[in-house]
Amino acid sequence: MGLKGIILAGGLGKRLYPLTKITNKHLLPVHDKPMIYYPIRTLVDAGITDILIVTGGNHAGEFLRLLGNGKEFGLKHINYAYQEGEGGIAEALRLAEHFADKDRIVVILGDNIIEKGIKASVDDFMKQRKGAKILLKEVEDPERFGVPELDGKKIIGIEEKPEKPRSKYAVTGIYMYDNDVFEIIRELKPSSRGELEITDVNNAYIKRGELTYSILDGWWTDAGTFESLLRANNLVAGKEAK
Ligand code: DAU
Repeated sequence: MGLKGIILAGGLGKRLYPLTKITNKHLLPVHDKPMIYYPIRTLVDAGITDILIVTGGNHAGEFLRLLGNGKEFGLKHINYAYQEGEGGIAEALRLAEHFADKDRIVVILGDNIIEKGIKASVDDFMKQRKGAKILLKEVEDPERFGVPELDGKKIIGIEEKPEKPRSKYAVTGIYMYDNDVFEIIRELKPSSRGELEITDVNNAYIKRGELTYSILDGWWTDAGTFESLLRANNLVAGKEAK
């Protein structure tokens, strides 16, 4: 059984308008590199070199121009898929079914940037007989994210952007799934915001009793709002100054 990497870089990035009027969010600079470089590096550093980038919108062609075959990352080839519209993270992931084939996958959102690596968690996931694994991180503002409810060492449910978070953890945008994920996505219904939600995918794994988690080591940030984009720049610049 192999392992493949998928980076989700679709969506319209409306929260960063007008920055995203003439380009894709994941091509914006974070310190000295385009945002998309960071999730690619996260996968490659974890030993994952078979990678699909799902993008969309009006600027999808720029990814090919920027990344080509991924030589800068030591890759020989990068796979690309195109998402029409912005039907949600799980809808973007659905486009990876062909690419995944029979393998397991590590999914990372294109605007998620981390300080350290995920290799140890990926290795743990590969030892898991089946199911899924997510990574949590303690944050100041859990209401901006998917938030887990914990009972001892178990996650008993995840709420998407809850008004009253049931823990101080965010579900980060790094997800590990077995091949059942595509069957789960096929059964999803759009949420009140009209999207196929990744939180519903994770809750389906909880229902099956097949979701494990680890706490991510080092800092983590998204970069999809002006505030978090600035934070991402400062964190990366600080790391590189060290
Ligand atoms: O960053 C972690 C959070 O990401 C999680 O805690 C949440 O549970 C999860 O829903 C997500 O929340 P956001 O509201 O921040 O997601 P956003 O809509 O900003 O999308 C994040 C990335 O997913 C985006 O950079 C590209 C990709 N995406 C998103 C949508 C809606 C797609 O590829 N296609 C899409 O249609």
